[in-house]
Amino acid sequence: MYAKFHSIGAYVPSKVLSNADLEKMVDTSDEWIIKRTGIKERRIAAENEYTSDMAAKASELAIQRAGLAKEEIDLVVCATVTPDYFNMPATACIISDKLGIRNVQAFDISAACSGFVYALSVAKAFIESGMKKHVLIIGAEKFSSIVDYTDRTTCILFGDGAGAAVISATEDKSEAIIDIHASADGSYADFLVTPAPGAVHPASEQVLAQGLNFVQMKGNETFKLAVKTLTQDVKNILAHNNIDSKDIPHFVPHQANYRIIKAVGDALKMSDEQVVLTVHKYGNTSAASIPMAINDIYESGRLKKGELMLLDTFGGGLTWASGLMPFAGE
Ligand code: ACO
Repeated sequence: MYAKFHSIGAYVPSKVLSNADLEKMVDTSDEWIIKRTGIKERRIAAENEYTSDMAAKASELAIQRAGLAKEEIDLVVCATVTPDYFNMPATACIISDKLGIRNVQAFDISAACSGFVYALSVAKAFIESGMKKHVLIIGAEKFSSIVDYTDRTTCILFGDGAGAAVISATEDKSEAIIDIHASADGSYADFLVTPAPGAVHPASEQVLAQGLNFVQMKGNETFKLAVKTLTQDVKNILAHNNIDSKDIPHFVPHQANYRIIKAVGDALKMSDEQVVLTVHKYGNTSAASIPMAINDIYESGRLKKGELMLLDTFGGGLTWASGLMPFAGE
């Protein structure tokens, strides 16, 4: 039994936070943000709109586009670092309930921006082992809930959103996911961290006073490592499968920073047409970034059945992952 990338869906909140808006909040400029990141605007969820709400909307679309009844989903995996609750129940359980799917295995994955590709590797393994037939995987973030909007080094980068995919069993090898490489190096854990709440820093007045509930990032160090790791990771997965970068119609990198995407694309000799870009309009949506980008090319008619997608991502942990597969949806 093989696993295929069966369908895609996404949800984007309606509220836009533009660079001009940020200019009024912190000491920054539209020019600096565009030059250093390529980001023009990002979306922010409503106050009473949570990660599970966005995820459920993306999932509804993905399940419908797979032509399945919700009852046919037998595993729900949600990748997020902005769950509805730290630390239980899992957001995947809440999403399942919102979808009306009961008595189904459901759990979360915490791998920051690499979460969706990590979830894809889990879905592939469950299906290939024969344990599950239709796995709903989700990347969803309300990143605005952990961003300090007085910190110009992080608040310009992140946005909210959700993407979902159904990964299904197939006996047809030609539509199967070809390969996934996922890895981590915890010695860089302090590059990207939200210190609280957790066992190290349980919630307290002191934690709030010190802003330990907000994301902290060593931006420049992360940037350099991201370019190096992402490039090597893609070279490895292509070489491992004897595929040339020119034969990839859709390179879908994690949307963290245009300069990172451009550097990796250039190192792989990819043309602009091959590289999928959404960072200008959504910013960095962490685990949601890759499925939102796939949905973007799907909805614009660029992604056709059978065409190869190369996914590549890097994030907190530090974690990184790449995946190679044909799009097997209609
Ligand atoms: N506006 C104006 N100036 C700013 C801003 C801002 N918003 N932010 C920083 N600066 C200043 C700094 O203070 C610094 O000033 P100084 O030279 O006087 O000290 C200067 O700009 C340069 O700062 P750097 O941090 O060196 O800028 P850099 O070019 O590295 O860009 C950025 C910063 C955009 C954060 C970049 O480093 C980056 O994209 N990093 C990688 C992010 C990433 O890939 N993360 C992983 C995934 S995220 C996840 O897993 C959740």
